[in-house]
Amino acid sequence: MAVIFSGIQPSGELTLGNYLGALRNFLDYQDTDECYYCIVNQHAITVPQDPKELFQNTRNLAALYLAVGLDPKKVTLFVQSEVPEHVKLGWVMQSISYVGELERMTQYKDKSQKQGDSIPTALLTYPPLMAADILLYGTNYVPVGDDQKQHLELTRNLAERFNRRFGETFVIPEIKVGEGGARVMSLQEPTKKMSKSDDNQNATIRLLDAPDQIVKKLKRAQTDSDNAVRYDKDNKPGISNLMGIYRAITKDSYEAIEDMYAGKGYGVFKSDIADLLVATLEPIQQRYNELITSSELDTILDEGAEKAHAKASRMYRKVEQAMGLCRK
Ligand code: TYM
Repeated sequence: MAVIFSGIQPSGELTLGNYLGALRNFLDYQDTDECYYCIVNQHAITVPQDPKELFQNTRNLAALYLAVGLDPKKVTLFVQSEVPEHVKLGWVMQSISYVGELERMTQYKDKSQKQGDSIPTALLTYPPLMAADILLYGTNYVPVGDDQKQHLELTRNLAERFNRRFGETFVIPEIKVGEGGARVMSLQEPTKKMSKSDDNQNATIRLLDAPDQIVKKLKRAQTDSDNAVRYDKDNKPGISNLMGIYRAITKDSYEAIEDMYAGKGYGVFKSDIADLLVATLEPIQQRYNELITSSELDTILDEGAEKAHAKASRMYRKVEQAMGLCRK
């Protein structure tokens, strides 16, 4: 049985990118593997957050994890800040990582630019904390979207570096990027990834968007003017992104989609995608609305934190012993 770990930041309402690139893939492992799915709220505070919103987003994300079909009897679902070993091992990971390699992370470069002269230090040291999240559980596979590849590579490097210096301690994890939907792009700027924190509401489909919003956003999605449904990522990024979304849901090949929509134009295609998305998201939204008001959520998160803590504390103890950090 493999160990699976992944996390999502409660930094805003989840997008279709989070769903297709990560969340729905979490389901693939719950019947066969030992799964840890985390709400990484300590990662979220690497950029300023409103405390009330962060608290609410954390709860909402827990409900969404369950609404897509994760079963708390099969997976360990928990909040990062409730298992203190994450920041403890995060500090250890900082002690073996280099400022130079952290400054080279593209996500750091993008996010720090938006913070002006006040770049939080934690934005730079975010990847060592992410490495800690993963390494604490002896993780074999990490299901994530394409944008996390560089962070995963760093995690592997840090694990190997630690093992070399202090003796075999960590399992070297592997990334699992899904077949379709690993990189969903913005509907308004299709060369940029769809992001939770985008201020332009038309750029993102949110998992909790009402059907009429989904239809409207798709109608407004940026495309070129030649009206031919043809996959060409470089020259037709807008329509290619929509085809990617369609393919991720139906599993049809690009050729099959091109054949189906030959001569039909963008209007028909966009309206069909809207129908597909509404049909996919409606049952999730229904379950979400039931869960968000139930007290079951707190029990599930309490139990999850306890189970995660039991496993994480065993690994952290090994780390302290290997490094000479504990007397006994
Ligand atoms: P976050 O919260 O930005 O995103 C959560 C997951 O969604 C994927 N994703 C996408 N996939 C496809 N298309 C998109 N447009 C898109 N946008 C986001 C992300 O790849 C991710 O899988 N650093 C992580 C959180 C994290 C983590 C971890 C992940 C912290 N510790 C340990 C795995 C293991 C992040 O910022 O994800």
